[in-house]
Amino acid sequence: MQKLSKIAVLTSGGDAPGMNPCIRAVVRTALYNGLEVVGVRQGYQGLIDNNMYDMNNRSVSNILNLGGTILKTARCLPFRTDEGMELAYKNLKARGIDGLVVIGGDGTFTGALRFSRKYPDIAVIGVPGTIDNDLYGSTYTLGFDTATNTVIEAIDKIRDTADAHDRLFFIEVMGRDSGAIALRAGISCGAEAIMLPEKETAIEELIVSLKAGQYNKKSSSIVIVAEGDKNGGVYDIAKAVEKEVKNYDIKVTILGHLQRGGSPSSFDRILGSRLGFAAVNAMIAGKTQQMVGLQANNIVLTTLEEALTQHEFKLEDDLMQMMEILSI
Ligand code: F6P
Repeated sequence: MQKLSKIAVLTSGGDAPGMNPCIRAVVRTALYNGLEVVGVRQGYQGLIDNNMYDMNNRSVSNILNLGGTILKTARCLPFRTDEGMELAYKNLKARGIDGLVVIGGDGTFTGALRFSRKYPDIAVIGVPGTIDNDLYGSTYTLGFDTATNTVIEAIDKIRDTADAHDRLFFIEVMGRDSGAIALRAGISCGAEAIMLPEKETAIEELIVSLKAGQYNKKSSSIVIVAEGDKNGGVYDIAKAVEKEVKNYDIKVTILGHLQRGGSPSSFDRILGSRLGFAAVNAMIAGKTQQMVGLQANNIVLTTLEEALTQHEFKLEDDLMQMMEILSI
């Protein structure tokens, strides 16, 4: 492989707090090692549109505390086509770019792997950035910690009003295929039930446990429903419960995109910095088609293929057991 001289960095898919600290680490580690760095705007779309700019140390000043991503992001359909990939490749080559750091989730990595197989002369390293925490190969993904803290803060507030009115709240949190936020937030906030895509909860069971809560003199109850739960959505669940659980005023709250914003937590700033630093070092060491991740507090490389094919992220067994026992 030829010596690396110029790399590009992009963020793609759903933004996640911690992406900015990661971009900063990529840029400064690359410059420190004598590489040139190009920032790509709006993810893969920026590769296709040639929407890129040279970055220096000052391009990433004062961004550690910012949510979102200074490079902007997009879910880019044209990059799934051969024509889109070819345009991206030509634009990268014309600028003399021989390495690409992509920060995002499984959709981002799917694109990165296809691109890298087609055009192996451009090294590609992935950084796991998604609030969903659902990538194999890293115990934590960028943004998960901040998003969970945001959700906890919101649910604590809802608990105040639920308790004041003796109400039952159904709260939907993000996670299309992942119950990671729901589980952590549920345990942290003492939710009476947590509904996850990874474990089916029959509505009948939920009704029995909510009735038991009433019998045990619980004044308020909170049920957290992950977006990807298989019972048809938070409103349908609330309606089904309303028919059976009497004497409870029922409300529904969907937390939505507020979960994706906000200043990254200390954990996400450190994680972003570590993973960005590691991504550039991996590329300098000649690696490609790999993801940098954190396992047992160590930086570990996983092939993009493995990160994608094994992407069923397993929720912690003890948390799954606790979720039923501690909410009684
Ligand atoms: O992948 C992160 C995520 O926030 C999911 O939890 C959610 O289902 C999805 O993105 C929402 O995507 P969008 O912002 O494109 O609607």
